[in-house]
Amino acid sequence: MFKVTRYRINPDKCIGCGFCKDVVECPGYGECVGCSSCFLACPNYAIEPYTALIRETVRIIVDGEEYDVPRGVTVKKVLEILGFSFSRYPLEDSIFAPCETGGCWACAVIINGELRPSCHTAVRNGMEIETVHIEEKTPMRVIGGFTPHPVGGVGTPHWLKDKGHYIEVACFAAGCNFRCPTCQNYDITYNSRLPPMTPREAACELTYYRKLYGVDRLAISGGEPTLNRRWLIEFFKELKKLNKDEKARLHLDTNASILTPDYIDELIEAGVTDIGPDLKALRIETFMKITGLNDRELAEKYLETSWKAVKYIIENYYPEKVFLGIGIPYNKFFHPTLDEIYEIGYKIASMDPNVQVCVLDYRPEFRRTNIRTPTVDEMLEVKKALEDTGLKTVIVQTRIGHIGP
Ligand code: FES
Repeated sequence: MFKVTRYRINPDKCIGCGFCKDVVECPGYGECVGCSSCFLACPNYAIEPYTALIRETVRIIVDGEEYDVPRGVTVKKVLEILGFSFSRYPLEDSIFAPCETGGCWACAVIINGELRPSCHTAVRNGMEIETVHIEEKTPMRVIGGFTPHPVGGVGTPHWLKDKGHYIEVACFAAGCNFRCPTCQNYDITYNSRLPPMTPREAACELTYYRKLYGVDRLAISGGEPTLNRRWLIEFFKELKKLNKDEKARLHLDTNASILTPDYIDELIEAGVTDIGPDLKALRIETFMKITGLNDRELAEKYLETSWKAVKYIIENYYPEKVFLGIGIPYNKFFHPTLDEIYEIGYKIASMDPNVQVCVLDYRPEFRRTNIRTPTVDEMLEVKKALEDTGLKTVIVQTRIGHIGP
């Protein structure tokens, strides 16, 4: 008998928005297998966990060995029962499973000969699962939202923004390792319905959009694009092959939480020219409030990695080899005073006062609809605070457009 967590809709809280069906794909096709995708994605906290006891088992093969495991659970759960370890920060001896919503495919294993996300696939009788030689399969992940942009992202240089025409084409990677209650892009972040793409397919589609809209910048944002490293490196290599001209700029927007120096080197080697790390905060309490992460140790690792990534890029690549634009979210709800904004400003200015910093006015969104969009005056106050710390290139995103140099 196995004790497992399952999820069900609380009819008193459900407002019938349909998000859990239209954007989230249920891997159990209506019979909950405890993947938690709908629970994490519901904007109204209307899906709740409960404990179930499972008696029935199914027989499966894992790496050539036969096992009897509970039925009606995910492949990830089965592998955990069999002793495999999973982590939400990349570790050598664990399977990396950072999003747990079926978007990033970092947790993929080979199931009946095909790559499938272990967190988002229901175990079935007779399944053959392989956890080794994954790299022999072409990586996949859920990608969507191919669109032209007149503004770009945080890693877009300020002199290109708001010129009244398209400057960039972008696509968005589903799956995120953060759980921001104010997620500004939640319909892609929690999307497991869109078909997964190979790096080549996504690069071809984005290049097609580049030609269609006559722009030179090709960007990926999310969700969190860095979660599936093999996929992302291949994607940029393919983009570079398809866009050999000197004008092409390959742009990555990221929360930088797993962007270690070797990962940065590999990205730049693959062709990345512009990086936009969105640093959520400097203090751990604020970081956890913005990202919705409850595990302090994990949050500390993410926060530390993201700030180290910025330092590493500045010391090794910026400005000659890579354009760097840092993003910071702002809302009075996160920052009742400007103290931490000053601290952030001083810290960045001590690395390089010229680096571009773009403050994003976080609007009420997703699960946090009870906050107020910052006013233009508030954003200008934040801009002034950052400039007072010595930063020379501060842009603020406001409801009337970007204000900056
Ligand atoms: S962790 Fe399984 S798809 Fe992202």
